[in-house]
Amino acid sequence: MTMQRVGVIGAGTMGNGIAHVFARSGFNVVLCDVEQRFLDRGLDSIGQNLEREVAKGKIAASDKEAALRRISPVLDRSKLADCELIVEAATEKFEIKAEIFRDLDRLTNPDVILASNTSSISITKIAALTKRPDKVIGMHFFNPVPVMKLVEVIRGLATSQVTYETVRDLAVKLEKTPVEVNDAPGFVSNRVLMPLLNEAMYAVMEGVATAQTVDEVFKLGMAHPMGPLTLADFIGLDVCLDIMRVLQDGLGDPKYRPCPLLIKMVDAGWLGRKSGRGFYTY
Ligand code: CAA
Repeated sequence: MTMQRVGVIGAGTMGNGIAHVFARSGFNVVLCDVEQRFLDRGLDSIGQNLEREVAKGKIAASDKEAALRRISPVLDRSKLADCELIVEAATEKFEIKAEIFRDLDRLTNPDVILASNTSSISITKIAALTKRPDKVIGMHFFNPVPVMKLVEVIRGLATSQVTYETVRDLAVKLEKTPVEVNDAPGFVSNRVLMPLLNEAMYAVMEGVATAQTVDEVFKLGMAHPMGPLTLADFIGLDVCLDIMRVLQDGLGDPKYRPCPLLIKMVDAGWLGRKSGRGFYTY
């Protein structure tokens, strides 16, 4: 039987992007968040982002309307009970994810795959909170989800081959390219990306060059679409700091020490694009 109904927890940037791509590919999506205003904002973003695709001729206006109709926003998590797979994209804090996975384990049929979009929290540790660790997996999308082709599929220690293959094939149905990665701090994407961004911050802190210059080096010298500091602002400096701490704690090597300037900026509430100020002002 082919999968038709998926749940997405969290209507923020990642959650609404994930709901967008599932709905665009014909899945019925139950989108769950804790407050109506988060759902409203998430649906607004999906509408606007689908509209960009209509404007670019990638989809028809009728596809946009059909995709929006396939998304059911809910506040009550028990409405996810009849979903065939759930992707969690809630706040990147272990305690929050732990509560959600325990609850989903209780609410859903034991066959349902529970995936997390976590960018750095251990899938093995999340899986161990449930009675179905073989059906827990990482499905890590990239921002902006409708545009970025990659899905990092992360196998926890107990993730079964069937679960892995189901999620890999699902990513292909979403017109994404899945890559297989084993559970380890930061997986591959953030294990490699975050130290790059962190080092760019050290270069700014030490006065080697301005943020603009560091970004220009990467845009013009290495053909990156965004320089590392623009990208850090785009991801969120608080998220960058959390991930550096996961790398530092999990791998123990001093090379993962978060840049003091990053810590200071997060303390100041300069979180990047979302707060209006980071390495740049918005
Ligand atoms: N939804 C739908 N389409 C979107 C979109 C969205 N949210 N955002 C942008 N687009 C589309 C645009 O309509 C445009 O379409 P065409 O190519 O058909 O013209 C295309 O994407 C490019 O957008 P723009 O022309 O507006 O701007 P751009 O060329 O500067 O590209 C960008 C914007 C795609 C964000 C590009 O700058 C980029 O690729 N940046 C790097 C992003 C990146 O590295 N993301 C990963 C972050 S790490 C992460 O997510 C995971 C983690 O764990 C931290």
